[in-house]
Amino acid sequence: MSILFYCPWHNQNQWFIEIKKKFKNEKIFTLQDKPHLSKIKFAIIWNLPNNILKEMKNVKVLFSLGAGVDHILNLSNYRSQPIIRLKDKVMAERMANHVLSQLLFYQLNLNTYLNAQQRKKWIEDIEPILNQDITIGILGLGFLGSFTSSQLKKLGYNVIGFKYSKPIKNYSFPVLYNKNNLKKFLHNSNVVVNMLPSTQETKHMINKFFLRAMKKKSLLINVGRGSTLNEKDLTIHLKKNKQFYVSLDVFEKEPLLKSNPLWKMSNVIITPHIASITAIDTAVEYMYSKYCEYLKNGRIKNDINLVKGY
Ligand code: GLV
Repeated sequence: MSILFYCPWHNQNQWFIEIKKKFKNEKIFTLQDKPHLSKIKFAIIWNLPNNILKEMKNVKVLFSLGAGVDHILNLSNYRSQPIIRLKDKVMAERMANHVLSQLLFYQLNLNTYLNAQQRKKWIEDIEPILNQDITIGILGLGFLGSFTSSQLKKLGYNVIGFKYSKPIKNYSFPVLYNKNNLKKFLHNSNVVVNMLPSTQETKHMINKFFLRAMKKKSLLINVGRGSTLNEKDLTIHLKKNKQFYVSLDVFEKEPLLKSNPLWKMSNVIITPHIASITAIDTAVEYMYSKYCEYLKNGRIKNDINLVKGY
């Protein structure tokens, strides 16, 4: 079967080597090989150009090299082919670790000590809040959100979740649902972790009203998608509320433009979309297992609910 691999990342060669090793009986092409795109049946992709997808008239499965699939759904030539997204324990661990690192940086006042170090100042201690006195609100309870929530709960934090629709499964922590409860969820959270995907419904969901509903002294961690956050509203809010902190891993436009004021704000931590980096070996293993499932059954269920858009 002809497989296309398309990945613009710096480590694409490493990916290609691992994929060829695992799919050793198959022909793996890159665009450089100039394959007959109409013969491609299975594609392993990240940020594939729209015109290439158009040429792949007979593609049966699109495999996302990440957990997110907006890079496929946003292509106008996408024709509802099944998409498989990565659901990988390594990525989940990385996400939970990243969220915990940002939470502890805030909780233990490490920013203040870092500033003091830069000024060579031996400052007085600041008593940190205990885990049991911190409520973390998680927005988005998918694979990564659920894992992160359970890790935080194990550490003794209070965890609450929020979903737009009524939860269909049981969670080990309270989950508020329905738009009318969003304010209550925000009022109750000392830290809000956004793990929502990019959809029409989530676009600029974090805007001035959302931010004003959060506690004045609180932390927002955005590890979902940049499109969910209105950066202009956030910048204004950060200027007015010096006790309000954000940790941003995703942005409306990536890489973040040098001219963006967020870079220089003292209540902002910026990381370059690294919260949950894909792990090559486990990802390739997962893809291969899905590929075998497809070969065995001749079809595969779409991971994406096309009505919800994620
Ligand atoms: C990263 O953002 C991913 O979608 O895996």
